[in-house]
Formats: sequence, C-alpha cells, structure tokens
Amino acid sequence: AQPQKNAYTAIDRTGLMTNIADQATIGLQRKKLNQNLETSFIEIILALAETIEVGDATPMRHSNQTAQVAYAIASRMNLSEEMVKAVRWGGLLHDIGKIQVPEEILRKPGPLTNTEWEIMKQHPIIGAELLAPVSRFKDAIPMIEAHHEKVDGSGYPYGLKGDQIPLGGRILAVADAFSAMLCGRVYCHPYSLEQTLLELQRCKNTHFDPTVVDALISLIREGYQF
Ligand code: SIN
Ligand code: FE
Repeated sequence: AQPQKNAYTAIDRTGLMTNIADQATIGLQRKKLNQNLETSFIEIILALAETIEVGDATPMRHSNQTAQVAYAIASRMNLSEEMVKAVRWGGLLHDIGKIQVPEEILRKPGPLTNTEWEIMKQHPIIGAELLAPVSRFKDAIPMIEAHHEKVDGSGYPYGLKGDQIPLGGRILAVADAFSAMLCGRVYCHPYSLEQTLLELQRCKNTHFDPTVVDALISLIREGYQF
C-alpha cells in the first residue's frame, strides 16, 4: 500500500504543480493581454494623432518635431529618464484632444470667435482625459494638460503661473512654439531659425520658462538640429 500511496501523492503533487503552473501561465497571459491591449490602445492613439493636424502638409511632422525638441531639452536639463520619456510622449500627443474640436474651427483661416476659442481651449483637457486609461502615459498627462499655460499666468486652460505649471508642460510649451514657428502651418508664414530664437527670447519670462528657453538655445548654438 505504501508505494501506491506514494504514487498517489506523486500524482497529487504533479496535479498541484500543474495547477500552480497553469495559474502562473494564466497570470502571465493576462499580463501579456493587458500589455497587448495597452499596445493596441497606444497604436490607436498614434493613428488618431496622425489625423488631427488638418491643414498641415505633413501631418505628423509637428508632433514628431515637438517630441524630439522636448526630449532634447529634458535631457539637457538632466531630468530623470522617466521624465525625459514622458516629455517625449507628451510632445507626440500634446494636441490629441483636438480630435474633439470641430474641423471648421481647426481649419478656420481667420481669427476665431469667442465661442470657437472656448472650444479650442478645451483641447489640453480633452487630451488628458482621453489618455487617462493608459498607465504608460501617467507622467505625460499633466504635461499635455499644461502645454498652453504661460509662466505669467495668461495661458490656458487654468491660467497657472510659473512653477505651478508642471515642468514638463513648460518644456512642451517651448518645444511646441519652436516647432510651430519653424514648420509653418498653412495659414502662417514660417519663421527662419533666427527669427524663431528671437521670438522665444522675446517671450522669455512672459510665456516661457527662461531656463527651458536657454536650454534649447544652447543646444541649437552647439549645432543641434531637429
Ligand atoms: C495649438 O494647439 O497649437 C493651437 C491652439 C493655440 O494656438 O492656442
Ligand atoms: Fe495645443
């Protein structure tokens, strides 16, 4: 009877181990599924991002350039690797909230009416809400929400001042303005590199964090190209 009992125990143990292994596999599969879902969500978001820049001949150019510039500034400022990565996502997705702004507002060649402006000014908040489910974007979201704030408090959506604005938001503001001036939208005459740098200097302390502007200008003076 003894060997048989051992045999049963062995079988039970195998069963138990199989069970544990199964559960581990299920756990891993679930983790992988979640990762796959998150990856799919990110791919959808990126596809959406490609659709929003109406009126621009090369849709992703501005977002990609903003991401590159923001990434370089954050690295130059010796921010943590996490922050540098978050700032890059923030650059890529800063205007994603525009998918809820009607096209006639986005495409309008002339100045916007007050009502149209109120709608336009929602895009940082809409973007933040849209990305909220993705844990990968956790650090980028407050930056995206703050990319139109100005250090003198005259920005939107909240009119935050100085370092009330998350640092990543201050970085995105400079990178976004730099890229928008250089790449030139359809209805806006593009600036030369020198004009762009002068404009950034001029708006230091009113719109932009001077430390961030200085970091970008030093990169460019060293021959960095975007
Ligand atoms: C933009 O998101 O860059 C356009 C809206 C604005 O000029 O504030
Ligand atoms: Fe924007």
